[in-house]
Amino acid sequence: MILIAYATTEGQTEKIARFCAERLEAGGQAATLLHLQTGAEDMPECDAAILAASVHMGRYQDAIEGFALRHAQALTARRTLFLAVSLAAAGHDADEWADLDRIAQAFQARTGWQAGKTCQVAGAFRFTKYDFFRRLAMRWIAWQKGEEVNPHDDREYTDWAALSTEIDAFAARIA
Ligand SMILES: Cc1cc2nc3c(=O)[nH]c(=O)nc-3n(C[C@H](O)[C@H](O)[C@H](O)COP(=O)(O)O)c2cc1C
Repeated sequence: MILIAYATTEGQTEKIARFCAERLEAGGQAATLLHLQTGAEDMPECDAAILAASVHMGRYQDAIEGFALRHAQALTARRTLFLAVSLAAAGHDADEWADLDRIAQAFQARTGWQAGKTCQVAGAFRFTKYDFFRRLAMRWIAWQKGEEVNPHDDREYTDWAALSTEIDAFAARIA
């Protein structure tokens, strides 16, 4: 069984986690989703694991930090993939990519879990989930990036085809 443990703030990482589960199951692998912000602390018995979280103000959710810290040894002993979701990964800014790399490295250094592979995944603007201030801040970020967005609608950047390739490769490494 492949565990997919995830943390999400506006829901895009949850969508990504569900997509990965469906993809694995379509390929004949059993997958179990674990939403880490529901108070889940234990790690279910599994052969391999995918962890997924999103970046907010330069950090992943506390729930994934706690989970990775608690289960660092068990995770490191298995094949693992870390899906790090962000908006910076939707662009090509070298400084922003260097930041994403630093954020992922610092997370792994803090928790002691060394992911088998880290994959930066483009997320989404989820205007329908933001409060007033977040909507303003995110509109400003979109404007800075030269992105035309509708503040009453979501805008997804996740490359589902690339994610499928990544998940298929992970499944092949386990098999
Ligand atoms: C308040 C806030 C802060 C964010 N900070 C960052 C950031 O520092 N770097 C980045 O690349 N993306 C940042 N993002 C974008 C999120 O990573 C992106 O929207 C992602 O899809 C969120 O995933 P989730 O819906 O699973 O929480 C931020 C988004 C919000 C709303």
